[in-house]
Amino acid sequence: MKTMIGVIGGSGLYDIDGLEGAAWQKLDTPWGAPSDEVLTGTLDGVPMAFLPRHGRGHVHSPTSVPYRANIDALKQLGVTDVVSVSACGSFREEMAPGDFVIVDQFVDRTFAREKSFFGPGCVAHVSVAHPICERLAGLCYEAARTTGVSVHMGGTYLAMEGPQFSTLAESKLYREVWGCDVIGMTNMPEAKLAREAELDYASIAMITDYDSWHPQHGEVDVSEIIATLGANSANARDLIAQLPALLGPERAACPQGCDRSLEFAVMTAPDQ
Ligand code: ADE
Repeated sequence: MKTMIGVIGGSGLYDIDGLEGAAWQKLDTPWGAPSDEVLTGTLDGVPMAFLPRHGRGHVHSPTSVPYRANIDALKQLGVTDVVSVSACGSFREEMAPGDFVIVDQFVDRTFAREKSFFGPGCVAHVSVAHPICERLAGLCYEAARTTGVSVHMGGTYLAMEGPQFSTLAESKLYREVWGCDVIGMTNMPEAKLAREAELDYASIAMITDYDSWHPQHGEVDVSEIIATLGANSANARDLIAQLPALLGPERAACPQGCDRSLEFAVMTAPDQ
């Protein structure tokens, strides 16, 4: 199978560098328009597609991001591996602002988003017990290590609806009772939809703040997030630039089966 890497960039990452034959492509999908045009091109002989999750100019809120259209657009282009990059708060002292966390689990607390490509007419239930592609996450970790950034392998991401940040009571609940490590507003339903679309999916959390639980740090605010992202987007760009060489132009089937998730998932009879 030929590799094509799709990168979904979050706050602070609205394009990527160095693509040969770079062009912004306008795509349409049965789920409406994606967040923005998709930047396509080739890096180290591997085709890549980049989609700014909030649109250039940051016009989509976490709730209004067209998650289904975004995943559909990447699938249409032939993407095999999706790497999500997003700004996140941290629930752990050692996961400090500026660090990267390669996420491995999610708690989905979002409630105002379309979460499936399936529904009346064609019913399917995919497993998301292991929502992250381990192979792709391992390569993201390797790529991060080469950039010199402080990177943590594994972490549970609490996906909240937003757009407001958490209350102090919520922040403590997620950290102390639920054992979550990072918090963000956008990786769900994105990760679930990637699994339904049979795409390998990994997520890089760029830590920007300590949410509101940390006694030595105040409440989160957007200026803190923007300042940390400004200092760190170069690391994200460097990490992305390593991916083509690490993934290579040809892919074996995913050992975990992310690319075959629908094989045993569809309930509806074929003649319906
Ligand atoms: N994105 C960046 N920091 C965040 C936080 N503390 N909560 C939710 N989303 C975030």
